[in-house]
Amino acid sequence: MNKLLFPILSILSDGKFHSGEAIAKNFNVSRVLIWQVIAEAQKLGVEIFSVRGKGYSLSHSIQLLDEVKIKQSIGEMASWLNIKVFDVVDSTNNFLMQEAPKAYPHASCVAANIQTSGKGRRGRQWQSSLGENLTFSFLWRFTKGAAALSGLSLAVGVSLIRSLKKINVNQALLKWPNDILVKDDKGYKKLAGILIELQGDMDGQSAAIIGIGINLKLSKNQLAKIDQPAIGINQCIDNEVDSNEFLGIIIKDLTEVLAKFESNSFEPFKDEWQSYDAFQDQSISISLGDGGIISGKEHGVNDMGALEVITEDGIKTFSSGEVSMRKVE
Ligand code: BTN
Repeated sequence: MNKLLFPILSILSDGKFHSGEAIAKNFNVSRVLIWQVIAEAQKLGVEIFSVRGKGYSLSHSIQLLDEVKIKQSIGEMASWLNIKVFDVVDSTNNFLMQEAPKAYPHASCVAANIQTSGKGRRGRQWQSSLGENLTFSFLWRFTKGAAALSGLSLAVGVSLIRSLKKINVNQALLKWPNDILVKDDKGYKKLAGILIELQGDMDGQSAAIIGIGINLKLSKNQLAKIDQPAIGINQCIDNEVDSNEFLGIIIKDLTEVLAKFESNSFEPFKDEWQSYDAFQDQSISISLGDGGIISGKEHGVNDMGALEVITEDGIKTFSSGEVSMRKVE
């Protein structure tokens, strides 16, 4: 990656036009080089307009992630957290999956301005683009084994809802186990997703890599690439969100939630989770890993975070599966 790529994107981040000549002068390089770097950014999926006589501009203003600003937003707690921002990374989850076994510090947050191969749950891709999504992963080491972490992803969902409320996104709901949805007149749309990957023993110590992707401002281009209805924070509130401040809020909430989860497991979060449950008492179908589909009425979660469904054969409990709303004729 050319070392001028992010300095140039930083100039363009105001969303205004900047001539190739002015940018070249600023860095004391040729206009051809600027053109090459712009082409490199476009290859990374950054939408840059080039207009003869005006220069280059992004489709809208963006905020680049910045370690100092994120730490400022976190406040005192930042002193014992490890915050790292990458300009470009394949996947923040992949990065931490590789680095965690090499003793990467506990309570690390790795965020990326551009993520080139974001991973979603169930082997899906997670689409993201500069300034359109917030993409980061958090490493938390537990003194208990992976077997004792059931409900962790639901607790993380609760944490995200708390953070969203702090920036006035009050309408977000949870779909079991941990999708963040918003309902509008066309139905439910995805606002954020969580992918947790675990390392370590089932019984001894373990590490959770908690990957979170939040849609900030989705372009038509990106919406077309996402395989399900999606929504950005900019469609939920009127004011602009400061990405660095918001990430700071999320990290703080997440740290508090993980510390509580570490000592008390999921149970303290259960009632709050249920209060945000998008499908409580609704007719749902749950697709299971073995291809089976079970239908019934969603009945909330138990103390372990498993989903309870009232079926024709009585209440059934699920600890994994993909839930969808069922139209009742
Ligand atoms: C989902 O399928 O809903 C989970 C999406 C998780 C996406 C995030 S973006 C940051 C982190 N890095 C990844 O590769 N995936 C997660």
